[in-house]
Amino acid sequence: MTGPSRADAEALDAEDPLAFLRERFSLAALVGPESRNPRIYLDGNSLGPLPLGVKERVSAAVEAEWGDRLIAGWNDCGWMDLPQSVAARIAPLVGAAPQSVIATDSTSVNLFKTLSAALQLQPDRKVVVSERGNFPTDLYVAETLLAGLGGALRLIDDAETELAAALSAGDVGVVMLTQIDYRTGRKLDMASVTDSVHRQGALMLWDLAHSAGAFAVNLDEAGADFAVGCGYKFLNGGPGAPAFLYVAERHQGAAIPLLAGWMGHRQPFSFQSHYEPAEGIGRFRVGTPPVLSLTALDAALRVFDDVDTRQITAKAARLTSLFIDCVEPFAADHGLTLASPRDAVRRGAQVSYRSDKAYAVIQALINVGVVGDFRDPNIARFGFPATYLRHVDVWEAVQRLHHVLDQGLWKVEAEKPRRAVT
Ligand SMILES: Cc1ncc(COP(=O)(O)O)c(C=O)c1O
Repeated sequence: MTGPSRADAEALDAEDPLAFLRERFSLAALVGPESRNPRIYLDGNSLGPLPLGVKERVSAAVEAEWGDRLIAGWNDCGWMDLPQSVAARIAPLVGAAPQSVIATDSTSVNLFKTLSAALQLQPDRKVVVSERGNFPTDLYVAETLLAGLGGALRLIDDAETELAAALSAGDVGVVMLTQIDYRTGRKLDMASVTDSVHRQGALMLWDLAHSAGAFAVNLDEAGADFAVGCGYKFLNGGPGAPAFLYVAERHQGAAIPLLAGWMGHRQPFSFQSHYEPAEGIGRFRVGTPPVLSLTALDAALRVFDDVDTRQITAKAARLTSLFIDCVEPFAADHGLTLASPRDAVRRGAQVSYRSDKAYAVIQALINVGVVGDFRDPNIARFGFPATYLRHVDVWEAVQRLHHVLDQGLWKVEAEKPRRAVT
């Protein structure tokens, strides 16, 4: 087995301008109880690890705010403004003006709100284009919404090659794509895809679940219309953290989601019986904000304080390239095929390999302290957040992967029933 050496990885760490970010996390969770065989967490793309300070902030919100202030907390502790104040921390990570973003609800619900609002902007165009391999929640939201509205979902296999043909009939209102394919890690060029969609008179809705916090995103610059994203992946907001959504400023006067609640009303506390949308992005709020979850996300986002997102992009490319360079020398011998693009520009902070034993390999890797995940039908998936991973972690993870394959440690896992969450 050849490829980059441990010394090569250490040299990359020595000149890593983001090395200090690792100190912003609770290392106990990353390192594990056995410090001689530290856990290597390559699943921060699914659930980000716990940043330092979150526990204290949440416990203060429970005791000093909820416990002591009770209902006065709504007026005195900034609870009501949390969707906007948390969004102001997310906005620079996705290249958006703060007033174009709101932290609220789940990604799925935000997809419903943004897609329904986008469709209504051009009522004569009732077709939504997406990829067949898009994350299921995106497709289910579109399918059911379009069934209700009398529209149609047009699915293509590959946006990079089939989008132009799918748009040519002039009936498409919205193109809804996930920038990073959750299986392969393929990255779509936001600016050029958005531009080609606009040229055909359609609007562009981006799912940034695997983009926000993973590399620099420039929604405003790309001219995107709408976007949604997750709070619990690269933003490290904790299990089930609130999501966010983006509406370009030019649409905020006309765009109205088909899901209205009192928190999106112009004057929630006037308790009117008729809905009047709030000014601006506030109309995309629905119900009472989840104060404790938003507080956790707010504290977690401090990880990104003073960070240049371009450096995150560059480090994610270095980490993923190092992983590929280390795995490739033995991949073919063990039936692993790279599912991610080789060109770092076309790849998110994720590398996937296809293998008919992918599930068992992932389970065996977890047994030796390397946490990745499996995606049906044959994808072994590894995430590389630039925030807490070192290059030497990547190198060490590959040594263990080689060990698992070479020693056939996956075989015993192949005999066991599959776990519910893979
Ligand atoms: C691309 C994409 N969109 C959406 C979601 C999840 O949405 P929700 O947070 O509503 O479960 C995921 C979850 O992994 C995802 O990968």
